[in-house]
Amino acid sequence: MKLVDDLNRLVRNKSAIEILELVSSMKNENAVFSTSFGYEDQVITHMIFSQQLPIAIFTLDTGRLFPETYSVFNSTIDRYKKTIKVFYPNTSLVENLLTTKGPFSFYESINNRKECCFIRKVEPLKRALKGYTIWITGIRADQSGNRSDMPMVEWDESNDIIKIHPILNWDLKMVKDYIFENNIPYNPLHDKGFVSIGCQPCTRAIQLGEDFRAGRWWWEDTTKKECGLHLRN
Ligand code: ADX
Ligand code: SF4
Repeated sequence: MKLVDDLNRLVRNKSAIEILELVSSMKNENAVFSTSFGYEDQVITHMIFSQQLPIAIFTLDTGRLFPETYSVFNSTIDRYKKTIKVFYPNTSLVENLLTTKGPFSFYESINNRKECCFIRKVEPLKRALKGYTIWITGIRADQSGNRSDMPMVEWDESNDIIKIHPILNWDLKMVKDYIFENNIPYNPLHDKGFVSIGCQPCTRAIQLGEDFRAGRWWWEDTTKKECGLHLRN
């Protein structure tokens, strides 16, 4: 897609904030940022809110998040006095899932796990992205093998939208330094060995030397560990 190629060229030597400013200045595009309140997302949220950029922010509340995640959600809206739009799973889909399979079906098979992720993340995501032409994420290249060769701008076929990852090339130290320098609220679980934080029953802390995503869906084969939010074309 020509716009994707053009944007990839335009963002090449730009900083994260310059990329967000560029996206904000594009008259024909309408951008939205998704946050899970992890370290990376807090960096981008700070840039958007403190610079008053015209980029909406949403979160997918799966209904299974950590209490700490709700706390940092709360401190964030408190700190910036701004709104983060919440998308919740479809009530009857969740009711049916729990009625037929109980609350922990995702541990039983990959299909069950993907079914839960579809109901709690993928379907709400589609509603959240409706009406937007650009989706901004906090993905970093060194988070997983699957992300190491991602371009900063890509076409997301499953959601029909341009995706931009402004801090794709940041390492964890840069993220942490930015958080501390700007006194940004962050998820206290990061101080307890949790690097990548998703739903409570599917996330654990990692040990020193373990892979960055080792704490996500740890009972599954590493090649299957995507929940469907970020499928590659
Ligand atoms: S996941 O696919 O494994 O769940 P990950 O936790 O690495 O994704 O987060 C990557 C990016 O996906 C985040 O920076 C954020 O933009 C988006 N994201 C992940 N989870 C959520 C969520 N619950 N709500 C909104 N955005 C999310
Ligand atoms: Fe369900 Fe776990 Fe996926 Fe969350 S991460 S939606 S609890 S399977």
